[in-house]
Amino acid sequence: MQDNKVQIFDTTLRDGEQVPGCKLDTSQKLIIAERLDLLGVNVIEAGFPVSSPGDFISVSEISKIVKNATVCGLTRAVKNDIKVAAEALKYAKFPRIHTGIGTSDSHIKFKFNSTRDKVIERAIGAVSYAKSFVEDVEFYAEDAGRTDNGFLAKVCEEVIKAGATVLNIPDTTGYCLPEEYGAKIKYLRENVKGIENVILSCHCHNDLGMATANSISGVVNGARQIECTINGIGERAGNTALEEVVMILKQHPYLNLETSINTKLLYDTSIMVRESMGMPVQPNKAIVGANAFAHSSGIHQDGVIKNRATYEIMDPEEVGVTESAIVLTARSGRAALAYRAKKIGYELTKVQLDAAYTSFLEFADQQKEIIDEDIHKIMDTVNKISKI
Ligand code: KIV
Ligand code: ZN
Repeated sequence: MQDNKVQIFDTTLRDGEQVPGCKLDTSQKLIIAERLDLLGVNVIEAGFPVSSPGDFISVSEISKIVKNATVCGLTRAVKNDIKVAAEALKYAKFPRIHTGIGTSDSHIKFKFNSTRDKVIERAIGAVSYAKSFVEDVEFYAEDAGRTDNGFLAKVCEEVIKAGATVLNIPDTTGYCLPEEYGAKIKYLRENVKGIENVILSCHCHNDLGMATANSISGVVNGARQIECTINGIGERAGNTALEEVVMILKQHPYLNLETSINTKLLYDTSIMVRESMGMPVQPNKAIVGANAFAHSSGIHQDGVIKNRATYEIMDPEEVGVTESAIVLTARSGRAALAYRAKKIGYELTKVQLDAAYTSFLEFADQQKEIIDEDIHKIMDTVNKISKI
């Protein structure tokens, strides 16, 4: 029987920070790492230590301050990368080296000009070497999404024998369909000797908008770690969004899969990452976008004002948003206008509301949104009319 705990592996500071314009300095990374630890992530991928002296220092400093999470450093299947990562991680309470190599035919041919056998040899060598520094070694089979399942199973079996504790199955190019990615995880669970002794990990990219769906399909089929980033930032179209997978598992308890995330910190963490990286979040982004809990059409607003559950599948407070927003536009109805007017002190009779609504529609047809200042103006007009 598999455990029902899904480990959350956050790679905001590694795959997320690779995005042009998202670069952070060490002090900014330390603030985010501390927040991720508080949020309850299980693993923080702090960087790629051999990539630059700055990244080495960041991983090393993060290792010193993180109290609960495992701190992980990325490497290629290259001895010096692994040695440098081990050095950067030496202060971590729970260090992990994340090493790996491309396994798809296109990576083997075009990136390495090599053969499948030689790639297996390098994978074994990298894991064994990493194991001489730390107990916890994660292996990634880059481009596993496009790797032939039989060969992928062989690679997995060999790196387990070499001591890997976690097997990362990245859909590096964001190509897989959810059924296909889930079937890949299932295939590995059924065909790799020793798989019951390691954690299978999903690492999905969002090139076709399926990173979240693929990760969920992965855990439903037996993976027990999801690699993700805050706000889904990452290479190209991004990585799996942490807030999305966490809330999907929380809102679907029948899946019987849990994470250790304190969901009430999600919204603030999203803002922290958005601001320090200067990477805006689209308004319609699930969970943390400005419109995620905003209602603007009359039919929806009327329903939500009567009972939130009519159009909301989760309580905004669960993710740290104080309340749902009723946004006034030309599509809003009387109920929404009365609701917003009451919030700023106007208790309207039916006759007043009818008059205010007529005036409201005139205003609303001229602008995108009616704000509190406009409501005051509308009420002034209504008062003048009622005094005549
Ligand atoms: O997308 C990917 O394959 C990666 C690996 C380096 C883990 O980010
Ligand atoms: Zn990636």
